[in-house]
Amino acid sequence: MYDLVVIGSGPGGYIAAIRAAQLDMKVAVVERYPTFGGTCLNVGCIPSKALLESSERYEEAREHFGDHGITVGDVSFDLKKMLARKDEVVSSLVGGVAGLFKKNNIDTFHGHGSIVDTKRVDVKKDDGSVETLQTERILIATGSKPISLPGVEIDKEHIVDSTGALNFQEVPEHLVVIGAGVIGLELGSVWRRLGAKVTVIEYLGEIFGGRADKDVTRQAQRVFKKQGIEFALNAAVTGASVNKGKVTVTYEQDGETKTIDCDRLLVGVGRKPYTEGLGLENIGLETTARGFIEVNKHYETSIKGVYAIGDVIPGPMLAHLAEHEGVTCVERIKGIAGHVNYDAIPDVVYTHPEVASVGKTEQALKEAGIKYKTGKFPFKANGRARALNDTEGFVKILADAETDRILGAHIIGPRAGDLIAELAVAVEFGSSAEDIARSTHAHPTLAEVIKEAALDVDGRTLNL
Ligand code: FAD
Ligand code: NAI
Repeated sequence: MYDLVVIGSGPGGYIAAIRAAQLDMKVAVVERYPTFGGTCLNVGCIPSKALLESSERYEEAREHFGDHGITVGDVSFDLKKMLARKDEVVSSLVGGVAGLFKKNNIDTFHGHGSIVDTKRVDVKKDDGSVETLQTERILIATGSKPISLPGVEIDKEHIVDSTGALNFQEVPEHLVVIGAGVIGLELGSVWRRLGAKVTVIEYLGEIFGGRADKDVTRQAQRVFKKQGIEFALNAAVTGASVNKGKVTVTYEQDGETKTIDCDRLLVGVGRKPYTEGLGLENIGLETTARGFIEVNKHYETSIKGVYAIGDVIPGPMLAHLAEHEGVTCVERIKGIAGHVNYDAIPDVVYTHPEVASVGKTEQALKEAGIKYKTGKFPFKANGRARALNDTEGFVKILADAETDRILGAHIIGPRAGDLIAELAVAVEFGSSAEDIARSTHAHPTLAEVIKEAALDVDGRTLNL
């Protein structure tokens, strides 16, 4: 009898399993794919960042080495090698998860997990056999899957989702992307850097799904355009067809029906929770209209002893959030007071420049009628950014007008994804802008831009 059976080994499931084992639970993990690590490690965060890194280095060598006085001649790349490196990064990490399961004495089962009742999970293996696991509790960590649009059928060759776009064997001549969200912008950047013409068709009038701070969105849109990505905004895709290897995409814009031809189409219009064949009906567990499993603050579903975390529950779909929810869930099972502060979850887009945020946007504060002060500082006034030759962007800090407590922070600029960590800790600890302004930041570092933005909340920047 297990204390906990975790279904799904993504960042939510595998981290929850490890924490549960640390807390002396007897744990099993069920995973339907041959490797552990879920979307994130296999076909998400990790392979996309590997390709973003390779393509960025290529572009840097081609376009910017000359700025440093470095002559490199003709720069070229070997796509097969680039893809193989990405695959190696993935396989070393998924192998690492298998090692962690062993180290923590977690039993693993490969096969499709389905809930029989609140104390039993069936594992259907590839050879058709079924093994039944007995357990005190079940944790659903089955994650999410890409969605498509009516009239746009993913054929995995010409019309692909993110998984297909991580594996093009040739650089597309013209890649059209549906959706200017995170996937569209990250993978669109990869293939643009490698030589594809990239056009992004977006339903809204702005990028990032309308979720980012407007200042950041404006600047990012301008920079991506300058880099060569073309945008068709306020444009709703209504269909796509493939003819002799060419894709024709149809969309509505300004009351007109328009078409665009390309050789590859990437659909990046969001993801849906994955609960197919999970047996939820066997325990009477209902999902929301959009298929999510709802939970209480203990991450327990409406069915006692059945928990859920990660992409399969409502909220942002982020790997680090899934991990945090996983840890909190098992700690709560053990009576430890873990919690997730949803206002302190960093969100990063790994384009160049990177875009990162934590807490409230300016528009959200306005809508909520909260009085706030703003501090802003550009990377172009920072010594390290100049030395790096990477000066696009700024840090913006929003602090409560009365208490000075940091309510939100937004960065567009070099290494924004790493820099946001300081501000996420600040929000979690309830720090004031003054706390950051009075902390010594090493010189010369990009982090000094954060300190200057914090000083600017009180109108006293030193280097501008
Ligand atoms: P998943 O990682 O989806 O894992 C669920 C696992 O459950 C899968 O392995 C699946 O096979 C398994 N499973 C499902 N049903 C069953 C079943 N019935 N039986 C057995 N096993 C089952 N997030 C970030 O924070 N940063 C990023 O940079 C980032 N980049 C991304 C890039 C791309 C291209 C994509 C697609 C996503 C990216 N994400 C990123 C999102 C991130 O991958 C997800 O938020 C995260 O993986 C969710 O973790 P999870 O554990 O909830 O689910
Ligand atoms: P998304 O929600 O970020 O963006 C989807 C975009 O598609 C939106 O801007 C939406 O307005 C647009 N859209 C929807 N229907 C459309 C239509 N008919 N025509 C034109 N545009 C349309 O979703 P995305 O990019 O697919 O990513 C899925 C999830 O994966 C996200 O929730 C994200 O959290 C996660 N992810 C995270 C990453 C990161 O943290 N760096 C990287 C990649 C994915």
